[in-house]
Parts: sequence; structure tokens; C-alpha cells
Amino acid sequence: HWAVCGRSGRLFATGLLCGLLQGQAGPAPGLTVWRSRCSERQGREFALTKIEESDIKDDSGKEPITEDDADPEDLEVFYPTHQWQTLRPGQAVPAGSHVRLNLQTGEREAKLPDGENGKSDTRDERRRKRLGKVDVDSNSFTSQELKKALAKMKESEKAERKVRKQFPVRKKFRPIEQLKEEFEKLNVKMETDYEIMVKLISKFNSSASTLDEKVAALYDLEYYVHQVDNAKDFLSMGGLQLVIEGLNSTEAALKENAAFVLGAALSSNPKVQIESIEGGALQKLLVILATDQPLAVKKKALFALSSMLRHFPYAQQQFLKLGGLQVLRSLFRQKGMETLYVRVVTLLYDLIMEKEELLSYQPEEKIQQYRQVKLVPAVVEQDWCVVVSNLLATPEHDTREKVLKTVGVLMAFCKERYRGDQALSTTLSLLRSEYEELAAEEQREGDKDGYFQELLGSVNTIIQELR
Ligand SMILES: *[C@@H]1O[C@H](CO)[C@@H](O)[C@H](O)[C@H]1NC(C)=O
Ligand SMILES: *[C@@H]1O[C@H](CO)[C@@H](O)[C@H](O)[C@H]1NC(C)=O
Repeated sequence: HWAVCGRSGRLFATGLLCGLLQGQAGPAPGLTVWRSRCSERQGREFALTKIEESDIKDDSGKEPITEDDADPEDLEVFYPTHQWQTLRPGQAVPAGSHVRLNLQTGEREAKLPDGENGKSDTRDERRRKRLGKVDVDSNSFTSQELKKALAKMKESEKAERKVRKQFPVRKKFRPIEQLKEEFEKLNVKMETDYEIMVKLISKFNSSASTLDEKVAALYDLEYYVHQVDNAKDFLSMGGLQLVIEGLNSTEAALKENAAFVLGAALSSNPKVQIESIEGGALQKLLVILATDQPLAVKKKALFALSSMLRHFPYAQQQFLKLGGLQVLRSLFRQKGMETLYVRVVTLLYDLIMEKEELLSYQPEEKIQQYRQVKLVPAVVEQDWCVVVSNLLATPEHDTREKVLKTVGVLMAFCKERYRGDQALSTTLSLLRSEYEELAAEEQREGDKDGYFQELLGSVNTIIQELR
């Protein structure tokens, strides 16, 4: 089962299997790409891409997709008919459609507004009652039903917001807001985010709460603090400091979820970034990464660290001063940390590129700050050149794509090191033949600037520069 997830532009993670259309740019980083054999038989060219289940649940270290990257055309639009159809999370509904909740499944359904055909409507209504479905704008359901529906709606809203983070939604498509309004008309009071966060924070802070309750409170908080305004409220409520202290917990589950909340609150939120570093979060995260901890805890700590460092030169400077780069380097010597490698390399790549790209248009003050971030000398001194190039041996194409990009930017500083590296030159030759073959196949399928062609181009550039 697959869907077309965009008409043009880059293909983004939707959690669905997506057909890659001809002419569509290679999929966003982090997506798994499958080549479909049956596509040849059908005479169509598409690749199947899917976001990994684990990546839907946690965004740790995932390359953030900026608004600029996301093409509104990639948004999946729901085309209503006169029949009720189930909406998928994140699907945009044209204004004027009727949207309702199915109280049994918690799913939203939509259709075109009814014309004058009142008769079929009543029949429809009877059928709906039999099936246990209730219209949002009917007055006939109990508060118990409503509560259940609200809880389910929150769930789908949560899924929706995750999707919407990646796809800025055009104003006229606001199905959830529409629903909220309809609930308000029914005088069902929905708690504000502020009220909910107060409750969750006190649940987390209460000595009467069990470990599971605390973990659940953090898990829910993570959802709220994604929003910039909520994150600011979270700060003023004292929640941020509590979460930073939570990083010290002896319970792995609390550490993990505290780092998760912190990372979410930090994402693109300068105010939280400043407060966090002043609150000692950086040291605590580095301690987690440097000591013996379960992988899940380290994963979230790395996510929080990445969110803290991105676009915040002061934190980057402190990170280097505190030996943060060595801490990340040490992950490559620990067993069982392989899944963190590509995230670390991506962070490194982002930090190097951030400095290079932003220098051109940042205000003078920020440029000064970036000048003080001596990332490259430390990278060379700690021999990241080889750590990164060794990762080319990985079998996954998307990992290789990231590593090739990073090798590309490191080339300026690592050239001598790479020139003398026999293993690297062998790996590059192997990659070249592999991608030559895959790119040729791609071309035969009619895709001239395909994904493998792009990878082959990166490999060839590197080989050329090492001549
Ligand atoms: C957490 O609990 C402590 C002790 O009960 C209290 O002093 C503190 O104000 C609480 N913090 C927050 C943010 O609610
Ligand atoms: C938390 O850890 C830091 C070191 O990262 C330590 O200095 C501090 O005393 C710890 N705090 C608590 C409350 O355990």
C-alpha cells in the first residue's frame, strides 16, 4: 500500500509509504528508500519511502525540516465527496467540508456539506446511530461519550501536530480548530495548554507520584513544550529547572524523558536555550553521554544536546570548553552505540555548515560569537576525519548520504589525512562501482537525476579532490 505524498518538490516523511514521482527530488534525509521491482512491470518509476516507526515516536537527532524546505504542495489534501470518509492525521480538509468524529474509533471523518437532500440524510443518520457514530453538531450524546471523544481527539491532534511540524499548513485548512469551535459551541470546556502544563508539572514534582506517573507526565509535557509559547510558559512555571534536575535522576526512565522534554522545549527557542545553559543543562547532558547509561537515555540526551547547540554559538563555545567534542568522540569507542554514530555525524555536519552559512548574513555580534567557536581545530586534533570516513562502510544509503556530505565539508581540513588513507580509497572505489551500477539502472528507468546519481556525484567529487 502506498500513497502519492506530493506533487512536486522533495518527498518528506509522512509516516506513509509514498510513491516517489518522476522528477521529484530525492527524499528528505532520514527516509528509508525501497526500490520497487513491480514498478518496472507497471512501466512507472517510483521508489517507496517510509519513515521508520522508531523515528515517528522520537525525533531525536533527526534533521529538522525547516519551513523553507517544506513544500506546501507536499501536503496531503483530502478530497471530500458526498460520502463520509475517514481522515488521516495531518490531512488537510478544504474549508466548508463537514467534519465529524466517529466516537467509536476516535477517527475524524469528512464529506461535502449536504445539499437539500434531507431524506438521505435521515437514513444516513439512522445508519450512523446503529453504527454508534454521532455527528459533532448533534446534541444527543452524553458527557461520557464526549469525554472519550475528546481524549481520542487529543491523540489525533498530537499525531497531527507532529505531521504539521513538517508541513506548514495553509490557513484555510484547520480541521482541528474547526472541531474545537464546534465543541465550544456545545459548552464543553477544553482545558488550556497552560492549565494542563501546570497539572503535569505538579504531577512530575509531587513526591506522592509513582515513577510511572512521573514518566507519563514528562511524556505528555513533551507534546506541549514543542510550541514556542508553551515552552516560554513552561519556563516561567519553573518546569524547565525541574526537568534539568530530572537529568540527575537515578532512574533511567526519568533521565530519558527529562532529556526528551528538554530537547523539545529547546528546539528553535532561544529563550529556553539561554535559560537551560544557565541552569546547568549542558554539563548534565554531557555527564549522561560520558557515563555508562542505557542507549535510550543517551539517544535522548544527544537529541537535547543537538537542540541546545543549534544556532546558539555561546552554547557551542561552552560545549567545546567542557570537552563536549571528546565526549561525543568517546561514543565511538563504546559498544552498542552504533545507532548514535550517524546522529553525531549529522550534528557535526550541521554545526560546521551553520557556521559557514550563517557567517554571511548574521549580525556582527553573532559573527563575533561564531568566530570564537573553534570547532574545526578540535575536529582535526581529535581525528574526527577518520571517525567520519570509517562510517562509509555502513550498508544504508541514507546514512552514507549524510556521511558523504560530512566528508565533503571536512575535506577542507582533512585532505592530507584522507590522502594517506588506503582503506578510504578502497571504500570509495567500491562505492563508486556500486553507485555507477545503481545510477545506470535508475537511468534506464527514466530517472536522470535520481538519488543514486546524486550519491555517485558525491563519491566522484571526493575521489577527485583526493587526487
Ligand atoms: C516542587 O516541589 C517543591 C517541594 O514540594 C516546591 O517547593 C517547588 O515549588 C515545586 N516546584 C514547582 C515548579 O512546582
Ligand atoms: C546533579 O549532578 C551534578 C553533576 O552533573 C552534581 O554536581 C549535582 O550535585 C547533582 N545534583 C543532585 C541534586 O544530585
